[in-house]
Amino acid sequence: GQFNVEVRKTLTSTNTVLKEKAASGAPEGTVVVAEVQTGGRGRLGRNFYSPGGTGIYFSVLLRPKGRAEEVTMITAAAAVAVAEAIEAVTGVGAGIKWVNDVYCRGKKVCGILTEGAFDFESGGMEYAVLGIGVNVTAPDSGFPEDIADKVGAVYEGAAPAAEARSRLIAEILTRFAAFYESLSGKRFIGAYQARSFVVGRDVDVIAGDTVRRARALRVDDDCRLVVRYEDDTVEALSSGEVSIRPY
Ligand code: BTN
Repeated sequence: GQFNVEVRKTLTSTNTVLKEKAASGAPEGTVVVAEVQTGGRGRLGRNFYSPGGTGIYFSVLLRPKGRAEEVTMITAAAAVAVAEAIEAVTGVGAGIKWVNDVYCRGKKVCGILTEGAFDFESGGMEYAVLGIGVNVTAPDSGFPEDIADKVGAVYEGAAPAAEARSRLIAEILTRFAAFYESLSGKRFIGAYQARSFVVGRDVDVIAGDTVRRARALRVDDDCRLVVRYEDDTVEALSSGEVSIRPY
């Protein structure tokens, strides 16, 4: 595994830019880092707040040999790599909220968006773009009001931001590369399960417009969240969103 890292000042979205490079034949391991994203994208069509100087925003081009289902495993492996890297670089504890948000001190500090392009002839993937955004420190003016209750930063106060930011990127890439090398061996799954703080909690399972109350039982080896609804039916969720119910 070799990475070829390109650092840019301002981009719309590192995922968007890297998808264009992928389509014109860029090799696996191409990485695009941006200081600022003007159109950072999140899951489910959301925005990802990406101001300058306080976060890291980057995308990794992968050309996996396996099938489309691997997108889930790529994302899960990346979540473990991010959580481990945060702890190694900063000493701050990090947990994973299924599917792939990384939390510190009860707040989301990292989001991951993996986008794949499929090759219908082979049934495999032409490429996958793994996009990672981490709030390393909070912006001076704080996070925007509409996300401030959910979103936080790895460091509470000021931090040696520039250095910590490049070390974090390097640590995330190194750890992810080790997992990606043997993706089907799922060497990260035990760590993923151990870091999941949703398990054992009461959650709301959000599917489109419907919300159902459930208890999160475990994360299985395919990274599905196994939940038991109030009527005692059990379901293994392979994607979607849950929110932890406060009481
Ligand atoms: C989410 O939390 O919903 C996922 C957020 C993913 C953000 C990263 S930042 C780098 C890459 N470029 C993007 O536009 N999005 C991802």
